[in-house]
Amino acid sequence: MSVSERAFSFEPALIQDLIGAKRILFITGAGISAESGLPTYRGVGGLYEDVDTPDDLPIETILSGPMFQRRPDLTWRYMLQLEEACRGASYNRAHEAIARFQEHFEVVVLTQNVDGFHGDAGSQNVIEIHGNLRRIQCIRCSFCEQVPNYAHLQGPTPRCQVCGDVLRPAVVLFGEMLPPDAVDRMVTELERGFDLIFSVGTSALFPYIAEPVWLAAEHGIPTVEINPVATDLSSAVRYRISAQAGDALQRLWRAWQSQAS
Ligand code: APR
Repeated sequence: MSVSERAFSFEPALIQDLIGAKRILFITGAGISAESGLPTYRGVGGLYEDVDTPDDLPIETILSGPMFQRRPDLTWRYMLQLEEACRGASYNRAHEAIARFQEHFEVVVLTQNVDGFHGDAGSQNVIEIHGNLRRIQCIRCSFCEQVPNYAHLQGPTPRCQVCGDVLRPAVVLFGEMLPPDAVDRMVTELERGFDLIFSVGTSALFPYIAEPVWLAAEHGIPTVEINPVATDLSSAVRYRISAQAGDALQRLWRAWQSQAS
């Protein structure tokens, strides 16, 4: 059996847990979009590793709420860079597989990604806990628009066409509060409970991302991590799949389909 097959021989118990599940939570991070050509944030080639910024400011400082208030032009400079790096990219087979699972399970996707790819791939119940890059809003008036990209935005600080004040992407910058409606949906869905929880392509650094997995593991609810690199969650999950998200999720979907047919 080749390494790749060995890496993918899902434990039969995981397939059994999948068969018995009704509600599944997929918690996703930048790694699920890596196969779309989008850089992750941390680790080799990560956005936070390779970006040289003025005055050697860490990118987390530049992409922070306080910096945006003081120097929106600086934050916008990197937001425009980030968006341009993603322009033309699209969802991949990992997003597609998760959308397929909702044909037979009640699926909730809790994503930290702001690329909108889960919705593009057909997932319906998506909680974008860090917002969405393709939604632009005015910091003062109610102007808000969905945009395909930022090509039309005039730097260094795009302005609102209604009131002339500063525009911003509807994403959570460092140091900012999470969007209340997304938090409410996350809490409501977690309170309803899940039969199976996946952590896919995330370093799981944020407590609201890691805790649902920890709590599920403590309560004997099956948990799965799909990530080629170990994280703090790796020791807690019941199933650790050290693989790329696209391969693992597509094979898991096929394994479930073959037993369901
Ligand atoms: N398949 C699965 N996982 C992958 C793949 C892949 N093809 N490629 C990389 N990974 C994993 C990496 O090993 C890493 O653990 O994806 C993870 C990406 O971690 P981060 O770059 O930290 O991204 P994420 O966890 O989404 O960051 C969370 O931090 O900076 C904030 O707002 C930002 O939403 C982001 C949040």
